[in-house]
Amino acid sequence: MWKKWIGKKNTDFATIDGCDGVDLSRLPRHIAIIMDGNGRWAQKQGLLRTLGHRAGVESLKEVVRAASNIGVQAITAYAFSTENWKRPDEEVSFLMNLFSEYIDRELDELDSENIKIRFIGRIDELSNVLQTKFENAQTRTVNNTGLILNLAVNYGSRDEITRAVKIIAQKVVGNEISVNSINETMIDHYLDTAGVPQLDLIIRPGGDYRISNFLLWQAAYAEFWYTDINWPDFKPCHLYAAILEYQKRDRRFGGLNKNSTL
Ligand code: FPP
Repeated sequence: MWKKWIGKKNTDFATIDGCDGVDLSRLPRHIAIIMDGNGRWAQKQGLLRTLGHRAGVESLKEVVRAASNIGVQAITAYAFSTENWKRPDEEVSFLMNLFSEYIDRELDELDSENIKIRFIGRIDELSNVLQTKFENAQTRTVNNTGLILNLAVNYGSRDEITRAVKIIAQKVVGNEISVNSINETMIDHYLDTAGVPQLDLIIRPGGDYRISNFLLWQAAYAEFWYTDINWPDFKPCHLYAAILEYQKRDRRFGGLNKNSTL
């Protein structure tokens, strides 16, 4: 069992069960999660697919709390992709309502846990009601200094990169910048994840092994961790297992490790 001082005040104390062996000084700074398998989880039990999404909210809450408690700096959770509009209208509406409900129910607690909530993706294409809720949640938590929770809603990485390219192209056309000044740092700056620590680990439950248009640029040297467990069954122990595995990986970023011989 680990014990660690956490929270806004250094008198706050938490006991962290189940993360034995996790080196808290070498945590992934930013973890992305593709919350997959909700529909299958529900169907296996003879339930409507939408109930899988509802159960998925519980997993998100537990995992965010666990990550925040051990000191992970940022989580980006894929909640709705730019391609998810292809799903039946009822499922899309259910999900939109679920996002709204989540903010109504969880914002106080997220705020009290010092979590900074942000929404990434084409938020401007969502309903006005949802946009207002998202903006309020962001504004209310903007000064929080704990874990950054990015919720990707109507998010697609190709769309994100295309938007960044358009902004940069406009600046070139307007003579604000030269073509030669375009570099990776500038592109990072115009992505939705600007200001969030480098992505270190991507977790995909649900048994598929693809990236599904999620954080393509940011994933350049992130480590992947897959599991067959469906997202509603994903618990903090699975998060710790992913982090333990991450801490065993030899991250070379295209170079060589210290022990390599020529
Ligand atoms: C993919 O599972 C999941 C989604 C498209 C929605 C994820 C959304 C949530 C977990 C809701 C919680 C989010 C917030 C921000 C409140 P799937 O439906 O593709 O599952 P399947 O592959 O088994 O069909």
